[in-house]
Amino acid sequence: MSSETSPVPSPRGITRALLWLAVATVACLPAVASSCRRSCGDVAIPYPFGMKDDQPGCAIPGFEVSCKRDGLLLKPFLSDDVEVRGILLAESQVRIKMDISWSCYNTINRTMDSINWFLSFRDTPYRLSDTGNKFTVIGCRTLAYITITKPQQLESSSLTTGCVATCNSQGDLASLSDGTCSGIGCCQTTIPKGLQNYGIWFDDRFNTAKIYNMSRCSYAALVEASNFTFSTSYAMSSAFNDTYAGQAPLLLDWAIGNQTCEAARRNPNPDPKYACISNNSDCFNSSNGPGYICKCKEGFHGNPYLDDPELGCKDINECTDWSKYPCAVPGTCVNTPGAFKCVCPPGYPKGNAQNGTCERDQLPLSSGAKIAIGGQNMFSQATD
Ligand SMILES: *[C@@H]1O[C@H](CO)[C@@H](O)[C@H](O)[C@H]1NC(C)=O
Ligand SMILES: *[C@@H]1O[C@H](CO)[C@@H](O)[C@H](O)[C@H]1NC(C)=O
Ligand SMILES: *[C@@H]1O[C@H](CO)[C@@H](O)[C@H](O)[C@H]1NC(C)=O
Ligand SMILES: *[C@@H]1O[C@H](CO)[C@@H](O)[C@H](O)[C@H]1NC(C)=O
Ligand SMILES: *[C@@H]1O[C@H](CO)[C@@H](O)[C@H](O)[C@H]1NC(C)=O
Ligand SMILES: *[C@@H]1O[C@H](CO)[C@@H](O)[C@H](O)[C@H]1NC(C)=O
Ligand SMILES: *[C@@H]1O[C@H](CO)[C@@H](O)[C@H](O)[C@H]1NC(C)=O
Ligand SMILES: *[C@@H]1O[C@H](CO)[C@@H](O)[C@H](O)[C@H]1NC(C)=O
Repeated sequence: MSSETSPVPSPRGITRALLWLAVATVACLPAVASSCRRSCGDVAIPYPFGMKDDQPGCAIPGFEVSCKRDGLLLKPFLSDDVEVRGILLAESQVRIKMDISWSCYNTINRTMDSINWFLSFRDTPYRLSDTGNKFTVIGCRTLAYITITKPQQLESSSLTTGCVATCNSQGDLASLSDGTCSGIGCCQTTIPKGLQNYGIWFDDRFNTAKIYNMSRCSYAALVEASNFTFSTSYAMSSAFNDTYAGQAPLLLDWAIGNQTCEAARRNPNPDPKYACISNNSDCFNSSNGPGYICKCKEGFHGNPYLDDPELGCKDINECTDWSKYPCAVPGTCVNTPGAFKCVCPPGYPKGNAQNGTCERDQLPLSSGAKIAIGGQNMFSQATD
């Protein structure tokens, strides 16, 4: 078809053609540029993450962070206002900081003043980690809810979970104990998989009007479970909020795209393009929502998203870490791609260097002579 006879392309058609060209160009680009900035303040920013204002290709779309100055420090942020404390590549997680919601009795106008936080990662690769976080409520007479919508948009169909913390009676106070979050002064519950947003609100029917001298404020937050240990001081003071300076760590799971490994691998132009490109990497369907993640094969470490001999998945030399990869007979470790072996030295064909000893075959002349290598040193043993 000649250009004279083809219809004038509509703007929509032009857009589509340009998009197609852009995809084709990206597919031909070499490895991720080494000039991409890979840290912000004290936080490493490994690919697929990258700086928002860096050159194209430094991040997979959706994984951009902005590096901003906060006083003297540089700090990375997701969606411009959510601070990133760490990117956990092997776990496919990001640790962020999120504000603690609170509700306090106001002695002047005799009402509860509350600050309820809402966080949304809709249309992003991030989901709240159901295994890493717990909804945590602190107080002596409080009921707080976690929902997937803002409280003012609540519908009966919205997912809502509540957690009650009380410590009203003398018996309750006596049974408050450090490290135990059991409903007395502290309540914790898990959240379902796949959530991309949450809001917190307090039920005003549970309020501290009658106990404000003892416990005026209650607190609630979704918190990284392994970072939280209940302290009895939390129930009756602002110690919880103070310990975390108003912001608790929270884990997000992330995933690439919204397809399974197989579909993304098969698709010639998936968006984004298939990401598990390092040698010795494997693809796994995300366990928390759609999409997939990449990991180095067992026995390899590095960045599974990079096709780079130095930065991609490299063999772990197990022989340099005797404490993690022991051979019972020292000095017998042999590194192999992805694994290691414990090999008895030549002349010691009997035994098992992995979990036993290496023994020399009986020699024809000195019958009964047997050399064992064991413990930390080699020794010879004459037996007759
Ligand atoms: C109570 O007073 C606080 C300020 O001290 C104000 O923020 C809040 O809106 C007041 N509440 C009501 C219900 O008037
Ligand atoms: C709180 O303490 C104040 C001053 O000590 C006292 O007047 C008030 O009655 C107490 N309120 C309650 C609910 O215990
Ligand atoms: C909890 O997180 C904070 C900030 O991320 C960190 O400084 C602290 O060491 C963590 N504590 C534990 C017990 O993990
Ligand atoms: C919690 O801590 C934050 C940050 O320090 C502060 O702004 C907020 O007022 C505190 N809230 C309460 C109820 O203590
Ligand atoms: C999957 O991702 C593609 C590209 O980002 C998007 O166009 C599509 O709507 C997504 N599908 C679903 C079910 O989220
Ligand atoms: C990913 O999920 C699909 C569909 O549930 C399944 O057929 C496939 O085996 C899974 N792939 C991996 C690598 O787990
Ligand atoms: C990946 O492995 C192939 C085959 O072993 C090798 O030819 C290639 O150079 C490797 N690529 C990288 C980036 O290490
Ligand atoms: C020692 O290692 C051998 C081979 O790896 C294995 O078959 C055997 O069960 C091991 N014995 C013990 C006591 O672990």
